[in-house]
Amino acid sequence: MSSSSIESFRDLLIKPWKTIPFPTIKSNDHFSLFLKVGLAISTIFLISHFFYLSQNYHQPHTHFYQIASKQMFQPRTPKTLIIESGEAEEPTNISHILFGIGGSSATWQARRHYNELWWRQNTTKGFVWLDTKPSKNETWPETSPPYKVSADTSSFKYTCWYGSRSAIRIARILKESFELGLDNVRWFVMGDDDTVFFPDNLVTVLSKYDHNQMYYIGGNSESVEQDVVHFYTMAYGGGGFAISYPLAAELVKILDGCINRYSEYYGSDQKIQSCISEIGVQITKEPGFHQVDIRGNPYGLLASHPVAPLVSLHHLDYVDPIFPNMERVESVKKLVTAYKSDPGRTIQQSFCYDHTKNWSISISWGYSVELYPYLPTAKYLEMVSQTFKTWRTWSDAPFTFNTRPVSQDSCVKPVVYFMDRIEGLDRGLTRSGYKRYDDGSGKECDKVDYKVAHGIHYVHVSAPMLLPHYWKQAPRRQCCEIINNVDGLNSTVINVKIRGCHRFESVTPR
Ligand SMILES: *[C@@H]1O[C@H](CO)[C@@H](O)[C@H](O)[C@H]1NC(C)=O
Ligand SMILES: *[C@@H]1O[C@H](CO)[C@@H](O)[C@H](O)[C@H]1NC(C)=O
Ligand SMILES: *[C@@H]1O[C@H](CO)[C@@H](O)[C@H](O)[C@H]1NC(C)=O
Ligand SMILES: *[C@@H]1O[C@H](CO)[C@@H](O)[C@H](O)[C@H]1NC(C)=O
Ligand SMILES: *[C@@H]1O[C@H](CO)[C@@H](O)[C@H](O)[C@H]1NC(C)=O
Repeated sequence: MSSSSIESFRDLLIKPWKTIPFPTIKSNDHFSLFLKVGLAISTIFLISHFFYLSQNYHQPHTHFYQIASKQMFQPRTPKTLIIESGEAEEPTNISHILFGIGGSSATWQARRHYNELWWRQNTTKGFVWLDTKPSKNETWPETSPPYKVSADTSSFKYTCWYGSRSAIRIARILKESFELGLDNVRWFVMGDDDTVFFPDNLVTVLSKYDHNQMYYIGGNSESVEQDVVHFYTMAYGGGGFAISYPLAAELVKILDGCINRYSEYYGSDQKIQSCISEIGVQITKEPGFHQVDIRGNPYGLLASHPVAPLVSLHHLDYVDPIFPNMERVESVKKLVTAYKSDPGRTIQQSFCYDHTKNWSISISWGYSVELYPYLPTAKYLEMVSQTFKTWRTWSDAPFTFNTRPVSQDSCVKPVVYFMDRIEGLDRGLTRSGYKRYDDGSGKECDKVDYKVAHGIHYVHVSAPMLLPHYWKQAPRRQCCEIINNVDGLNSTVINVKIRGCHRFESVTPR
């Protein structure tokens, strides 16, 4: 730039300022005054706008607060938000989630297998937080999340006589994760080293919520006795929970104080929730987070899942393997193969009647099929069959959902099939196969209907993929129909098609 052009640039900035307060109006000068005033106004506008932009540019975190507080006091539509923040908001994806897994050096080798079922190198972001550095002779597995060593917590108070001080360290993972200052984090998701997440569904669930607001999302314990001793208002840590960025930002400021104030509470999740209660944010319960505070066989829970994406499973070392006659981790791996074919449909229940035979089929997609040679009501099929006990006292009740007892009558029990294989077809369809399971009891109902049903050894299920947008709609269980074979009643195979329900379609006996 030449000196003269700098001069004229400066003139542009300065002259109007001089002109406005002391206008020297000559009779033939009105037009030039008009120009000068116009220039002055636009310059003021430009300067203040630059100032505003640069402030926001240098304080991205404050910007969150500005958005959050604006929303609080003058609700705006998300569209306005997008324009104001100056960048189009991409839908939430896996890169916006920072995982914080509570681990320990001593147990990681044993526990990592559950973690490695869902951790995706270079895709999922986050760390396992350890109590100590892993020993030098151990190489950290590539398939594990990278680790960090938690800060010392010996100065904090812990007064729960039956608990472990490690709860302090685990509670502080949120703070230590936040303080890493990583870019573009919308959600902090906490989990245990034995939590199995289903990350695509986690993204589906979190993307329903505005990450610029303060959200605390998770689920309760299934066992009422746990919710009584701990809290109903709490997202259980093993099922995992999500905290939006703006809530994390407020929480980390008071967390260390909270840890001392709530020193009598057993768990890290209780300490976190107690601290959130000081902010006043409430839990948003999502039925796909599963603490799995049950004992025995989790079958019933997985066969009648609520109409919501499966987000997590926990405590899988404390229940029977989810598929019979399999090793625990292998059995979860099998469910994960189904999940990979159609994440949204994983263990979604559909049931339908075959009125030509008076049969019913209930499918938990990717997991199991039940065949009843009669017509139980929809309410019965939807209710969880109680194949398990409560967590703490191994009792039959109560749970935070209704259960129905498992019938010992072989003329009431369904014929059960477990997922055998799965394949993706063209046009977003999957075909899954379910193989007859013999529980080895040797008791079979003598009725003719049951004899025919027992002759069915395989069930084929075709289904369209349940894409994420489905979960933005009002939740409705999908419908199915039993496709009758040309070879009639004598077939040993049943074909079922899952699909969206028709208008006025219901599972109602005729
Ligand atoms: C996730 O969204 C970000 C924008 O925040 C985008 O840059 C990135 O490509 C997206 N990643 C995936 C895996 O879609
Ligand atoms: C992850 O990224 C690193 C570095 O880019 C690369 O060497 C490695 O092969 C990637 N791993 C996977 C599983 O994609
Ligand atoms: C590493 O060394 C420790 C003793 O320092 C030993 O107890 C442990 O078994 C070793 N681990 C491996 C994988 O060799
Ligand atoms: C199905 O049940 C209804 C009502 O009980 C009965 O009238 C009908 O004959 C049954 N059909 C078959 C094929 O068993
Ligand atoms: C049904 O099929 C079996 C073999 O699959 C055969 O032995 C039997 O005769 C068939 N029954 C009828 C009624 O077709």
